[in-house]
Amino acid sequence: MNHGFITFEGIDGAGKSSHIEALAQWLRARGREVLLTREPGGTALAERLRELLLHQPMDALTESLLVFAARRDHLRQVIEPALARGTTVLCDRFTDATFAYQGGGRGFDGQVLVQLESWVQQGRQPDVTLWFDLPPAVAAQRRAAARAADRFESEDETFFTRVREGYAARAAAAPGRFIRIDALQPREAVWAQIAQSLEERGW
Ligand code: TMP
Repeated sequence: MNHGFITFEGIDGAGKSSHIEALAQWLRARGREVLLTREPGGTALAERLRELLLHQPMDALTESLLVFAARRDHLRQVIEPALARGTTVLCDRFTDATFAYQGGGRGFDGQVLVQLESWVQQGRQPDVTLWFDLPPAVAAQRRAAARAADRFESEDETFFTRVREGYAARAAAAPGRFIRIDALQPREAVWAQIAQSLEERGW
């Protein structure tokens, strides 16, 4: 039986968050213990770093160090202990977001990110990554209808085009882990694709 670590990714406005709770219920109905968490965040320290990341101006290296500092705390305090208990962990964003936003969006050095990833994660990777993919122009329209924009959400379309390319590169490098979800579909069709893909993989 599969157990483990599922992450949700995509540009801001792709609609991933509304499916995380649905997936938690679906997995619980199949008898699993499920933990919902998010990045940056998931611990008291990491949530404080999240506030800084979303609102405080900083350069791309500082941003990268802070997301990995938050991730380190989150892995040690929450994710690794939960996985060790056999709990399925659903995490709203993880390291693919760093490669997409800091690497793609900000143009930060991918080799440095690879080094940080290896120090912080010690080989830990998600078992499955659901990548909610849609064109940046559509995501921008969806975001405009939502809450006040943070430092990332207020970036322009060219930034999100680079973020999307960052996700595409990570997906191409790990095709067995990534499931690309067509987030242009209506919500019910998106959910059907998620459930079907996980069922096909034995979840
Ligand atoms: P959220 O709004 O989906 O919770 O994500 C918060 C923002 O943080 C989102 O705009 C993407 C950004 N982010 C990064 O830039 N790098 C990362 O490693 C993570 C996890 C998130």
